[in-house]
Amino acid sequence: MTTKAIRGTFFDFTDDPWKHVGDEESSARFVSDGLLVIDDGIIVAFGDFDEVGPLYPDVSTTHIEHRIITPGFIDGHIHFPQTRVLGAFGLQLLPWLQKWVFPEEARYADREYARDGAVRFFDNILASGTTTVQAFTSTAPVCTEEFFEEATRRNMRVISGLTGIDQNAPDYFADTPESFYSNSTALIEKYHNVGRNLYAVTPRFAFGSSPEQMQKCEQLKAEHPDVWVNTHISENPHEIRGVLALHPECDDYLGVYEKYNLVGPKFSGGHAVWLSDDEFKRIHDSDASVTFCPHSNLFLGSGLFRLGKATDPDMRVRMSFGTDMGGGNRFGMLAVLDGAYKVGMINNTVLDGSIDPSRMNAAESERNKLSAFRAFYSITLGGAEGLYIDDKVGSFDIGKEADFVALDWKAGPPGSDWHAELIADGGDPVTVDDAANMLFGVMIVGDERAVAETWVMGEKAYQRADAVASTFA
Ligand code: GUN
Ligand code: ZN
Repeated sequence: MTTKAIRGTFFDFTDDPWKHVGDEESSARFVSDGLLVIDDGIIVAFGDFDEVGPLYPDVSTTHIEHRIITPGFIDGHIHFPQTRVLGAFGLQLLPWLQKWVFPEEARYADREYARDGAVRFFDNILASGTTTVQAFTSTAPVCTEEFFEEATRRNMRVISGLTGIDQNAPDYFADTPESFYSNSTALIEKYHNVGRNLYAVTPRFAFGSSPEQMQKCEQLKAEHPDVWVNTHISENPHEIRGVLALHPECDDYLGVYEKYNLVGPKFSGGHAVWLSDDEFKRIHDSDASVTFCPHSNLFLGSGLFRLGKATDPDMRVRMSFGTDMGGGNRFGMLAVLDGAYKVGMINNTVLDGSIDPSRMNAAESERNKLSAFRAFYSITLGGAEGLYIDDKVGSFDIGKEADFVALDWKAGPPGSDWHAELIADGGDPVTVDDAANMLFGVMIVGDERAVAETWVMGEKAYQRADAVASTFA
């Protein structure tokens, strides 16, 4: 067993900050001089350096100075084969898929292309501080294979699965219910629970899967109850109208996935922009989950997710945040937080009653405000809860896998260093509020330049080129 330790300033969560309105810091754990002890990638001790240090007098220790160390970021919704489709002008979801996405994803049927794409994909997410993704692939099994193979080489905790679409896609890209079923079965057997890989049965969206393909999804989940289910839901009004036209027997979009017994624990519906109150309630009741992808929703003009609705204490739904890259125009979760904050603020222009007093909802409006506590919870422990992997990652609790990010709160675009000096007299954070203020600056003013180091299972997996390497004490 190899034991090692990280010394530094740590910030993680022990609870959901939305449960602590007015006292959000009580959901966070801030350790200004802490020690994280790791055995073979698993956290075995965590706490104040003064208390934990003496218990491990001879442990090899890396001192990460002048950084805030948080759990690695969790991206609950990203498209691996869209790595190259960033920045396509002026289109909404359905024409954007046809013009840009399907032709590019079709290239991933070529193993060499898929392998090269996987290297680029994982390089980019690690440089953004992301250590876990739930990822869509394409209709080609080699695409899913190369995704899991590269994740395995990097020892990363990932969820993914063959992404089925057998209608509303070009012939050169569509699969069939039978090929989807047999390929998914083989991939589940090869990768699910092998190393850190987890498998998700992945119908791309109800608009793209025939009733026969949805039945195959139901069968796969019934035959492998332990697997995840990942898809899109209620993203774009044209898409929603299309789904309801294909399924007139269903009252709403969620009803289609319910009809095939897919909605429950480990189900993630990406976007969820236009869900009715009743759909939110059913997602809550079934312990399923949604993924908030603000950058994508803004970039593709899909709409504004109701964060304050999803966090209603009477019907709180599990939730991760996601880039939805390439629908989202950034790789990183820090950028997602910037978008999420702004979506909340725009929703509040309605909810504060200033446009129409009859639509005022002070409680929902308060929940829309994405403080640093709510934000960093959502991309760490909250995201892990949303994806049902909080027994494995998301915080520095003993027994979890040691994935973490060292954030340099002074790095970012021009001006961010001066802004950062407003806090803690320009020094290291001393209190939890200092840390929260610095992290808010990172998510709103900063960008991926703030990611100085990313560690996976206790090993350094990324170091920013100009960042001073951590010192070894
Ligand atoms: N719905 C179905 N496929 C996709 C996709 O690739 N991106 C987004 N944003 N929505 C989808
Ligand atoms: Zn998506």
